[in-house]
Amino acid sequence: MERIVSGMRSTGRLHLGHYLGVIQNWVELQNKYDCYYFVADWHALTTKYDNTKNLRQDVLDVVIDWLACGIDPEKSTIYVQSLIPEIAELNIYLSMITPQNWVERDPTLKDMAKILRNKESANSQISYGLIGYPVLMSSDIMMLNATAVPVGVDQVAHIEITRDIVRRFNNLYKTDFFNEPRPLLNNCSLICGLDGNKMSKSYDNDIKISDTEEITAKKIMSAITDRSRIRRDDLGHPDQCEVAFKYWKIFGDENSVDNVRYECEKGLRGCADCKRQLGVLVNDRLKSIREKRKYYEAHSDEVHSIIAKGSEKTRIEAKKVLDNVRNIIGMY
Ligand code: TRP
Ligand code: SF4
Repeated sequence: MERIVSGMRSTGRLHLGHYLGVIQNWVELQNKYDCYYFVADWHALTTKYDNTKNLRQDVLDVVIDWLACGIDPEKSTIYVQSLIPEIAELNIYLSMITPQNWVERDPTLKDMAKILRNKESANSQISYGLIGYPVLMSSDIMMLNATAVPVGVDQVAHIEITRDIVRRFNNLYKTDFFNEPRPLLNNCSLICGLDGNKMSKSYDNDIKISDTEEITAKKIMSAITDRSRIRRDDLGHPDQCEVAFKYWKIFGDENSVDNVRYECEKGLRGCADCKRQLGVLVNDRLKSIREKRKYYEAHSDEVHSIIAKGSEKTRIEAKKVLDNVRNIIGMY
């Protein structure tokens, strides 16, 4: 089976954007590929090095969410980046051969730098480590010599840099050792946040996988609808209903979506009722995931042991690659 690798920064509890945009895809890929999924805690440090008190819990929460969503440790290898020191060594070699302007051009990094500059804190500086973000990501991928990387569209620019670094390595050292990994994009439409912007923890517009049913329902009641509607029997415009109808299209079946559209356009459906129904729908979809999450929360020993086992296995594979790299470069 083809080997693929992907990671997620340890940002703590995950939201529906992670689930629908990335994790669902990972779950499906488990049956077709030899999957390695890891928590990128070093990448989290590139911007959060000054606030590390929740780092351990954040890592654990990410893995618990994955397991709850159906990432199966019997099929996939789950590990934590910082438990694989080989990645740090590979990162040194790759950083030597990566031209400075390749990392400076990285568009994703430019966005992150902008966010940092707006942050009023001591760490609004861009650190050397943050500049190295795409090189470290390349190290993650090349550490397992993966052939593909399942990511969201926002990460594709990073994978392009990885492909450039692979080509440069192979050219410099006259080898064909490293594979050029391709991005594996999923075709699901991105879910927006409750305010219509990109769903993100930092915008405070997200629904967490781990939210209770009550909180989920309450959050959905705050979702933006067709702003031109004031009274219950005003004729509605589902396509201008910025958030609620979009959610219907994601969570509802064809019949119910058609029915919502019909009743909305005819003024037969109030927005409050509409969102109450939507809340039930979203909660139904998350019910079994949340039950599974509770199980793992109560059995964190099991989660720690899944991480330990997966990391041990990954290290064995990483060591093989690193031996080759040291030989190819000609290290002592
Ligand atoms: N940068 C990715 C994100 O923010 C996380 C990540 C780190 C990653 N290393 C990776 C993704 C390697 C894929 C492959 O989500
Ligand atoms: Fe949106 Fe439903 Fe209100 Fe129509 S009735 S505007 S679909 S929330």
